[in-house]
Amino acid sequence: MDQGRGTSFMEFLAREQVGMSPGLSQVVSSIVAGCGLIHKQVNLAGLADVLGVTGATNVQGETVQKLDAISRDIIVRHCLTCDQIAAIATEEDEQMIPGSTTGTYLVTLDPLDGSSNIDVNVGVGTIFSVWLRPLKSRPVQETDFLQAGTEQLVAGYIIYGSSTMLVITLGKGVNGFTFDPGAGLFLLSHPNIRIPDKPKYFSVNEGNWSRWAIQIQTLVSQLKDRLSARYIGSLVADFHRNLLKGGIFLYPADTKSPGGKLRYLYEVATMSLLAERAGGRASTGSLPALQHRPTALHERVPFFVGNQDEVEQIERTFAS
Ligand code: AHG
Ligand code: MN
Ligand code: MN
Repeated sequence: MDQGRGTSFMEFLAREQVGMSPGLSQVVSSIVAGCGLIHKQVNLAGLADVLGVTGATNVQGETVQKLDAISRDIIVRHCLTCDQIAAIATEEDEQMIPGSTTGTYLVTLDPLDGSSNIDVNVGVGTIFSVWLRPLKSRPVQETDFLQAGTEQLVAGYIIYGSSTMLVITLGKGVNGFTFDPGAGLFLLSHPNIRIPDKPKYFSVNEGNWSRWAIQIQTLVSQLKDRLSARYIGSLVADFHRNLLKGGIFLYPADTKSPGGKLRYLYEVATMSLLAERAGGRASTGSLPALQHRPTALHERVPFFVGNQDEVEQIERTFAS
């Protein structure tokens, strides 16, 4: 059975919309449309200096910006045209950005994940989640964003890699759509993604070894005995590989980042929902990651995600 392979994301969304509010699907469409434009910019990234060679402006007379700033502007602009979005919080903005006063949804975004890899042609991505605005009777406040991961309505990412892909969960499973640049469409290429039963890889920045607690060092030594190492340094790319091939990704706390490095609302919550819906597991070490409730917009947490057995083993280490 082809499971609808080749279906465009918009058709898929219309079909899924039966169980989804039309407003929510408008929100998702705006985010995905914005990512289509970021894809173009990422593809042109190597030319940024060439286009800006005459000074700080490109051929259109616009200031040459860093790709994370460009991506942030594109996606925020797109979201602000959607009257269903009440406010947006992004990794790039200290404070939330108010949207439509009548909007029903909140959006959290990492507009460009993997910024250290932009200049070297390695996979980067956009990470997003959609949440319900808790109260419509007053203007949105930052505290409205402080929800546990379990409250997410939609979670997904776009990976701008050797091809551009959208991986998303709209309520049930996880589906992957590959971008056809000619048609400008995301086409269903990976229906109902399930993390393989057998893990293949462990992914962690071993450069942090000397800054880890002994229990993390022991854990990573044991992983080395059983699994192969792969680490890119873009969460989207590391997560995507392990989701398709099986594995475990770790970003533990260390003496440089005592609370962990990855941001709960823009990175951890999203990947946790995708992992769990694909049959995997996600944890902060002390709690299933989806149960964590952040106390600040830019809060960071330790993060462990991948095959269930692997994450459970890490949880047991923390519990002992
Ligand atoms: P961002 O580029 O959005 O700031 O995120 C970078 C994050 C994440 O993508 C990745 O998993 C992690 O930083 C890599 O960190 P190290 O370079 O410390 O390994
Ligand atoms: Mn990031
Ligand atoms: Mn980022």
